Amino acid sequence: MVPKIHSLGGYIHEYQKSLTNPESFWAEIAEGFHWTKRWNNVLEWDFEGPSVQWFSGGKLNITENIFERNLYTLGNQPAIIWEPNNPEEPNRTLTYTELYHEVNKFANTLKRLKVGKGDRVAIYMPMVPELTVAMLACARIGAIHSVVFAGFSAASLADRINDAEAKVVLTADGGFRGEKITPLKNIVDEALESCTCVETVVVYQRTKAKINMLEGRDIWWHDAVAGQSTECPAEETDSEDVLFILYTSGSTGKPKGIVHTIGGYMVYTAYTFRNVFQYNAGDVYFCTADIGWITGHSYIVYGPLLNGAQTLMFEGVPTWPNPGRFWDVVDKYQVNQFYTAPTAIRSLLSLGMEHIIDKKLSSLKVLGTVGEPINEEAWHWYHDHIGRNRCPIVDTWWQTETGGVMISPIPGIIPTKPSFATLPLPGIQPIIVDAEGKELSDHSVKGNLCIRFPWPGIARTIWGDHARFRETYFSTFKNLYFTGDGVQRDEDGYYRILGRVDDVINVSGHRLGTAEIENAINAHPLVNESAVVGYPHPIKGQGIYAFVVCGELSTGGEEGIRKSIKMAVSNLIGPFARPDLIQLVPGLPKTRSGKIMRRILRKIAEGDASNLGDITTLLDEEVVVKIIDGALVEVKR
Ligand code: WT7
Repeated sequence: MVPKIHSLGGYIHEYQKSLTNPESFWAEIAEGFHWTKRWNNVLEWDFEGPSVQWFSGGKLNITENIFERNLYTLGNQPAIIWEPNNPEEPNRTLTYTELYHEVNKFANTLKRLKVGKGDRVAIYMPMVPELTVAMLACARIGAIHSVVFAGFSAASLADRINDAEAKVVLTADGGFRGEKITPLKNIVDEALESCTCVETVVVYQRTKAKINMLEGRDIWWHDAVAGQSTECPAEETDSEDVLFILYTSGSTGKPKGIVHTIGGYMVYTAYTFRNVFQYNAGDVYFCTADIGWITGHSYIVYGPLLNGAQTLMFEGVPTWPNPGRFWDVVDKYQVNQFYTAPTAIRSLLSLGMEHIIDKKLSSLKVLGTVGEPINEEAWHWYHDHIGRNRCPIVDTWWQTETGGVMISPIPGIIPTKPSFATLPLPGIQPIIVDAEGKELSDHSVKGNLCIRFPWPGIARTIWGDHARFRETYFSTFKNLYFTGDGVQRDEDGYYRILGRVDDVINVSGHRLGTAEIENAINAHPLVNESAVVGYPHPIKGQGIYAFVVCGELSTGGEEGIRKSIKMAVSNLIGPFARPDLIQLVPGLPKTRSGKIMRRILRKIAEGDASNLGDITTLLDEEVVVKIIDGALVEVKR
């Protein structure tokens, strides 16, 4: 097991140690794992390149650290507890031994499909245990997984498959989510019309929907694994070999394939899982995220399994068959640690107390949140009514690029404060800088959040585009990793995340680039141009406000065009990226040089046009007045 912090003194001591001697700090933790060859250097780095290597020269297999390292003591303990969408359907449990055998069988299957070390496998699956099996089977043979969230459209899936040049796609006939069924295989079929790299599609049967199987390309999961051995020797990989690619949005249109490598990611997710949730042997841990996002990768799959934990995987949604579902699951499995997003808390809060008063919730010890700022009202509701005033809340700040949690309370040890992620974990060195990159070293300051020293979980590159990696994270401020977040530090040194300072918006914890949504809107034949900004939304945190300039209106009029724009965004990205508000405007506020002044649109969407700041560069002030007149939210002038 990785070391656990037990007291405030222990935290201070570990933090100091990680500052004064980061290499020996992380090496001691890494020593708890099974390496087939020890590393040569703990850390080599420079943020200019950038180039970061942890435990270089070290050889290991991450699945040996999940299985072989734990099986002797934990073989018969549940690894995955799976709760299906429909509570009437039987649940499933896979012990460590059972999961190990399934992973090996599927690893052998992949080998038979000629997947080898370094090959990419795209995974587009619902939340079933086989999704985890698929990821670990890739890791077992040194292949690189690229999980695509099953809410993405065919076009987005195709982009990701092509960018990673995946050879194999793993999917299912469909997926259940509440009352909806997502036709995953049909979406894959559509995506593959524009992908030439894919040789094989393996289809897991979940919904029994009627689907087409393309002769020579498509095979059923159950046929493919039939007869495969439950033994598969682990491929020896290098610490810096790629474990996975996971796409995320940035401020330009094209999604970025964030690359994580094996050794550092393993050490970092295992260490942070154990400490942030204060996980103890035998506890049942439940993270409600989808494995298609980094939270699921790090804190449903890798972090928990590396700790020999029991990780609960839930196929459904919080509100079906009723808004008490999460709490029923907590009581049913006696969940000890519960981790969710503020948007889920706000939506359940708004649906009333009747769904929680008859729940016990007595097993809960730690509550977590992630993905977006949590407002005080939601924090208190979570604390009082779910935690019943006895469970600390860990507000965990991190990103796809950081691999694991960076700033978070250690529950029961670091006193919490609503809406503050509190203090950095050992090994993490935050720094706040102003727009010019000057460090703001006082306690009570606001500015841009950067990190000045590498940690093992840091992303290594963007797949196929290292220049963009440098440009996005390491060029804004010299020798610093720039997070893209604004932050406040208070008199106690506590950090509070204020939200993105770039053109990225956070809708229900989903990260979306405004340019990506604009591209989708602009693809609509009647649209000339558009600008998308976020606005405060009571449940989603931020909603999507689109200002759209149309050439002419079609027969459906304004309503018709709004509908078809939403549909276009659904088709090109996914339903979660659909704008909440679409205002048709005569023009966009632009500078004389033709740049859209988003600042003005943001102000209007926030409902406050009383102080638009410097508008001397504005080409046409009349346009702004017209936009305010037609605004879809109330605007203070
Ligand atoms: C962005 C990263 C990390 C897993 C889920 C999201 C925002 C994340 C918090 C928090 C305030 C947060 C940031 C960050 N964010 N956690 N506790 N408080 N904001 O991963 O999709 O890579 O998004 O989410 O803005 O940059 P992601």
